[in-house]
Amino acid sequence: MSESTTSSVAAASVDLPPEEIAELRRIAVDLAESAAAHVRARRPEVFGPAGAGAEDAVRTKAHPTDPVTVVDTEAEELIRARLAETRPGDPILGEEGGGALVGADDAVRWVIDPIDGTVNFLYGIPGYAVSVAAMRGGRSIAGAVVDVAHAVTYSAGLGLGAIRVDADGVVEHLRCNPVESVSLALVATGFAYGRQRRTRQAQLIAQILPEVRDIRRFGAAALDLCHVATGRVDGYFEHGLNAWDWGAGALVASEAGAVLRLPPSASATGTDGDLVVAAAPGIAAELLALLDGVGAGEPIPDR
Ligand code: IPD
Ligand code: CA
Repeated sequence: MSESTTSSVAAASVDLPPEEIAELRRIAVDLAESAAAHVRARRPEVFGPAGAGAEDAVRTKAHPTDPVTVVDTEAEELIRARLAETRPGDPILGEEGGGALVGADDAVRWVIDPIDGTVNFLYGIPGYAVSVAAMRGGRSIAGAVVDVAHAVTYSAGLGLGAIRVDADGVVEHLRCNPVESVSLALVATGFAYGRQRRTRQAQLIAQILPEVRDIRRFGAAALDLCHVATGRVDGYFEHGLNAWDWGAGALVASEAGAVLRLPPSASATGTDGDLVVAAAPGIAAELLALLDGVGAGEPIPDR
């Protein structure tokens, strides 16, 4: 098994006072909502019926199926510019602009996914999000995930709980489902862009599917983790997530009571293919045992 961590919280010990954690959460919400407003406004401009030159707006990354759009880049730049004003000097790790997850100091770092679920964004499937986390020592202190198409904000602060705020401002305090058997659990997962890791993921799904109520693949890891918190699913697992995919969502899930398994605290990218799991507490031990039993506890390197 990898040296990943299983815990009921997404963070190592963090000695920040609650007021400071609440302030980091407020900033994360503000940044994620501002970037989400930009993404929402830009989609019809770039990809809508009147969208001009959409083909110039998309590039691919390491794999031809892994897209990045001009809007991903704009949203990350917007967040970086606002952080330079509100928290000058704080280190940043972003999916598009790079950076480090840990450093020599114990600074608060901002970990950004400007659009999680870029393939959904590209196709107009309403399941993409902006994710902003404040992290220290590779673990989450505060975070916000905004479901762009539905204008819903999920946020959490370490020890402060997790909430969902809808487009009308209605606030819901989040708790995982009280499910107690994996055989009745609805489990979300995701697949990597690379062929080699996907092939192994497909083999694992064939072993896991008969043991659970059903599997869902929504296409945005940050939202999958928030769905564990709201009870829309009972558990979630995926290999090879990057820190920006799970940074905010994992804290939302754990503050709603989920048990987590996370990659080693220094891994910014998912290159090693470590497993991430978030599970409602009543099924966590059984789901982790199922995953370990079929070999899913092992990392799946993408090479
Ligand atoms: C991806 C999504 C997807 C997950 C992939 C991620 P991106 O992020 O979260 O659901 O299965 O592993 O890379 O590329 O849309 O930011
Ligand atoms: Ca992502």
